Amino acid sequence: MMKRHYENPPTAGLPLTWRDWLPAKQPLATVASEFLQLPEVEITCSATAALVIILSCLAQYQPQRKTVIIPAYTCPLVALAIHHCGLRIQLCDLQADSIDFDIEQLSSLINDDVLAVVPTHLGGRVTDVQTIKQLVQNHQITVIEDAAQAMGADVGHYGDVVIFSLAAGKGLTMYEGGLLATHDGQLRDQLQKTARNLLPWQTKWEVQRTIELLGYTALYHPFGLHFVYGIGRRKALRQQQLITAVGDDFDFAIPMHQVGKWRQNVAANAFARLPSFLHLLQQQAQQRIEQLSNIVGVEVIQDKHGQGVWPFLMLLLPTAQQRDAVMNKLWASPLGVTRLFIHALPQYDYLQPIVPAINMPNAQAFAARMLTITNSLWLTEAQFTQICDVIQAIVA
Ligand SMILES: Cc1ncc(COP(=O)(O)O)c(C=O)c1O
Repeated sequence: MMKRHYENPPTAGLPLTWRDWLPAKQPLATVASEFLQLPEVEITCSATAALVIILSCLAQYQPQRKTVIIPAYTCPLVALAIHHCGLRIQLCDLQADSIDFDIEQLSSLINDDVLAVVPTHLGGRVTDVQTIKQLVQNHQITVIEDAAQAMGADVGHYGDVVIFSLAAGKGLTMYEGGLLATHDGQLRDQLQKTARNLLPWQTKWEVQRTIELLGYTALYHPFGLHFVYGIGRRKALRQQQLITAVGDDFDFAIPMHQVGKWRQNVAANAFARLPSFLHLLQQQAQQRIEQLSNIVGVEVIQDKHGQGVWPFLMLLLPTAQQRDAVMNKLWASPLGVTRLFIHALPQYDYLQPIVPAINMPNAQAFAARMLTITNSLWLTEAQFTQICDVIQAIVA
């Protein structure tokens, strides 16, 4: 029964326990600040909302600047947040086979219209923020580190401000939630003021998210995930609805509301288990990267710029055809092999009204050749070996 009905989560989220719903010793903002070594972390209802707060705040002080530069391969929500603020999206390509910005292209995009640039720590990997900061520091451009997928990584110290996501399946979760933080005291005061204005209390949202978080507490394990995640995902794949299958089909309306104390309390309690959980993930990732390194031609994206976290492994295959062949064999399986964002941003039909249609060859190649393997502790050695065997047979 359990064997047939299981589904590994696509990312290694920290499971919740019912004890997390009891009163916590310290507020979430306090434990998060301490752990991340960032002063006075602000709690938001999502990383997208955090980005909206930051951009709205910056735009208020520099209203003449209208452009935000983002990687051409990132979460569609980032584009939607910029659009929500009435700002213009400027895409920058990545370096080949990398999550880092193409620095030459980025340099050519710097001008007086640019409000902010968003280097992104994709998949828990640490991107090069220092170089970006040096590049823009004489231009009054704010560097926003997008660490939505990198909760617990050593980030947020070179950029001007950093965002994290506490969405379902992220390292730590409130079902939906986010954090923002900055070392700059003056900017922090302004951001806190903006957050107060932009995040009203909305009972309807808090009730919905609390029920969802209860569901997550009950069902975030392979047996529960089969029913609430696996079945729907496989149906979408059968219908060739790839964007639905990975959940890239976001709404243009961005919920903006406060997070209730009880949900914050749950995350604050779960936080106590996060450091040891992240440590286990790191050990597992290291061991599995070594195993993958035996497959000639497969590249695992690793850290060159600091200590990251390991929600999943990002693999680049030599060709898009080989990546697709692997997905044909493994995507519909419950093992935990999937794709991150289906496309580079210009390739999403539903984003066409807001994203410039520009060729971004490296981002497009990254989207076409990349797959992810969950780093969930529920993915057993035997299952991982099964995945490696499929990849090996196709790449050989
Ligand atoms: C890179 C990146 N940025 C921003 C976001 C938005 O985060 P949230 O879902 O908390 O709004 C995501 C969501 O997955 C993301 O992956």
